[in-house]
Amino acid sequence: MPSPRKSLLQLLLAGLSSARVCRDPSNAPLDLPLTLSSLGFLTPISIGTPPQEIVSLMDWTWINQFTLSTLCLGNPHDTASCLAPGQAFFNQSRSTTFTNQTSLYPSRTWNPNGFFGPAPLTVQFGHDVQHVGSLSAPVTFMLADMQFPQPGAFPFTGVFGLSPVFKTDNQSTQSTFYQFWKQGLYSSPIVSFLYCYNSTFGNTAPPRSLCNGNDALQSLGGYHANFIQPGSLQWYDSVVNLQVNIIDIITSPEILNYWALPVTQHLIGNESQPLNKTASGAVFDYASFGRGAPVSVNSYARLVQLTGATPITLDASAAPNNGAQSFYSVPCSKVSKLPSLKYQFGAGTPEWEILPENYVEKIAISSTQTACVLNVRALGDGDWIIGNLGETFAKDKVILFDFDKIKIGIADAVRK
Ligand SMILES: *[C@@H]1O[C@H](CO)[C@@H](O)[C@H](O)[C@H]1NC(C)=O
Ligand SMILES: *[C@@H]1O[C@H](CO)[C@@H](O)[C@H](O)[C@H]1NC(C)=O
Ligand SMILES: *[C@@H]1O[C@H](CO)[C@@H](O)[C@H](O)[C@H]1NC(C)=O
Ligand SMILES: *[C@@H]1O[C@H](CO)[C@@H](O)[C@H](O)[C@H]1NC(C)=O
Ligand SMILES: *[C@@H]1O[C@H](CO)[C@@H](O)[C@H](O)[C@H]1NC(C)=O
Ligand SMILES: *[C@@H]1O[C@H](CO)[C@@H](O)[C@H](O)[C@H]1NC(C)=O
Repeated sequence: MPSPRKSLLQLLLAGLSSARVCRDPSNAPLDLPLTLSSLGFLTPISIGTPPQEIVSLMDWTWINQFTLSTLCLGNPHDTASCLAPGQAFFNQSRSTTFTNQTSLYPSRTWNPNGFFGPAPLTVQFGHDVQHVGSLSAPVTFMLADMQFPQPGAFPFTGVFGLSPVFKTDNQSTQSTFYQFWKQGLYSSPIVSFLYCYNSTFGNTAPPRSLCNGNDALQSLGGYHANFIQPGSLQWYDSVVNLQVNIIDIITSPEILNYWALPVTQHLIGNESQPLNKTASGAVFDYASFGRGAPVSVNSYARLVQLTGATPITLDASAAPNNGAQSFYSVPCSKVSKLPSLKYQFGAGTPEWEILPENYVEKIAISSTQTACVLNVRALGDGDWIIGNLGETFAKDKVILFDFDKIKIGIADAVRK
């Protein structure tokens, strides 16, 4: 039976955690500064009391906040058997506001999954205060319960999920952005992304100053109208795409929370490419699967033909993306003359373009040689069935998600 003293302490702690909830005084969105890494964009957030820093991989395709924890094969005291030396993790025992939610949301395992492929991803659920920029609020989140030793340390501790939330989802599958919004911390259910990439071939990119000197900004709770070229913002209904779980991000049990659109045209320059009649679509993913302009196996072959590209053998570490495919290079002097890749997400709606300067990557292949490699990523077989729209597609655009209406916005970004 709890002593009165303990209940008082619990009350004080509960009061402390709700006192941390403070509404953003302005209506401006909260701009998370992003740094590009080999796996995707990283940002620092923190969890707990006192706050523990959780550098997080931003992920439009994950359903909640995930964090490495002390758990290894269900044991919170055997951390070193699972995590590599030097790995930063969240120690739930060090947070006075942490509560275990195992009885409400039992441990869950996905196998396979988009994190570790065929190795199991197991999580337990907890509740604690998350700190994001100037805002703090209690959330339900995932603590990794590692099932196998990690070969090395990850350059991050957590994953900040921004998947759409459906009506039937409970807190265990809700983005913590959504949980903050439901608690009244944001005045808008919209998030928006701007990539202040470094131009390789001299084409004009959005000025780096818009991203406050960072590689990109993920804005939460609204968007900056001055980042968008007037009249270019187009909203679409997000759709459920079943192919994503079959040939793209393969997860069991199945997860269907993706920002996805139907593809009604896929063009190389002005030449329309055939679409697979099954259900052609595209999924927004700016982690590593969204690197490279999406193409089909057939449109890749056609692009190679039209550009006169020649095969190039690259180590996985030098390849411009992690697609299971071969790569091709073009003379660097020809890049600006190559055709754009274009996509339409609904009959009668605008075509969105990826410039050749943005889908060709200049790669150092030795100390003296660089190659200009087609940074495209093919999925499926034959004609277009599915592709990922990530950092390559997002160049020169603003990508918006409305968590209330489940709508996707695409706009042209202002440029220098
Ligand atoms: C987690 O924190 C507890 C309490 O401070 C400490 O006893 C334990 O050693 C920590 N675990 C790890 C793996 O650092
Ligand atoms: C939560 O509680 C369960 C059941 O008591 C336990 O097995 C688990 O290790 C705890 N998890 C955390 C993260 O504290
Ligand atoms: C929460 O949602 C998950 C995923 O759909 C489901 O497996 C679980 O049973 C739900 N739990 C509760 C308590 O509603
Ligand atoms: C872009 O250039 C800036 C400044 O030169 C540099 O700090 C940054 O790391 C570069 N970003 C990327 C993604 O290469
Ligand atoms: C594509 O079509 C437009 C409009 O018909 C034309 O102006 C342009 O030159 C064409 N581009 C190519 C590469 O054929
Ligand atoms: C269309 O996609 C389906 C599902 O991936 C695949 O089985 C089929 O072979 C594809 N058809 C063509 C013509 O590419």
